[in-house]
Amino acid sequence: MTRDGSPSLESDRWGCAFHSRHGALTEALHVYIAQGLEYVGQKPFSELQVLEMGAGTGFNAALAAEWALKHRQKFSYTGIDLALPSDSEWEAWKSGWPVVPSWMPIAEALREAWIRSEVYEDEWVKATFVQGQAPEVALPGDMHCVFYDAFSPTQQPELWTCEALHPWLKALHPDGCLVTYCARGHVFRAVQSLGYATEHVPGPPGKREMLRATVA
Ligand SMILES: C[S@@+](CC[C@H](N)C(=O)[O-])C[C@H]1O[C@@H](n2cnc3c(N)ncnc32)[C@H](O)[C@@H]1O
Repeated sequence: MTRDGSPSLESDRWGCAFHSRHGALTEALHVYIAQGLEYVGQKPFSELQVLEMGAGTGFNAALAAEWALKHRQKFSYTGIDLALPSDSEWEAWKSGWPVVPSWMPIAEALREAWIRSEVYEDEWVKATFVQGQAPEVALPGDMHCVFYDAFSPTQQPELWTCEALHPWLKALHPDGCLVTYCARGHVFRAVQSLGYATEHVPGPPGKREMLRATVA
């Protein structure tokens, strides 16, 4: 349970939580929805294209889908991960919510489709899960927003280098942005050295700053 009363998962493999201990829901809404989708959503796009590094529980995907429904914005999501959480992990995370959130039915529908290797599709949302390992996995292009939600540089230093970040930045539409909770100096410098603009955006609780990168 994180400090805002929303649950997270603990990864045995990496020895850390999937989300901020200061508040999983608060972090996700701030980093990916407010500073990512709402930032790019100021411009009209016929269909907003979102790509996520680390789809995990489908939490960010479900929050983004709910945001798209609320704004009547067509939305297409591609989530990459090594593997989805197991059924027991996902059920534990789902039952950890003290009150069932409004977006849980869509999170369930996304997971069911992804387990069957199907694309989830409704009137507003199209969501695909791709099982693959970054940085080698092939990525789609022309993305309006990239959610970069790998484990931190302490756990996964190899995913925060120029080489690892470059494919995700190259996947951006010229008006798109990549957002991540991580605000380490070497990550900002890596993004800048690849020729992208960086912004120090105020972070969620427990973090002074986060990173937003755009095409320079
Ligand atoms: C911080 S968690 C993501 C949490 C997720 N966004 C959510 O809200 O549930 C990081 C995710 O990255 C995945 N991951 C770790 N290394 C990876 C790699 N090399 N390629 C693809 N996915 C990876 C893990 O399996 C994990 O699900």
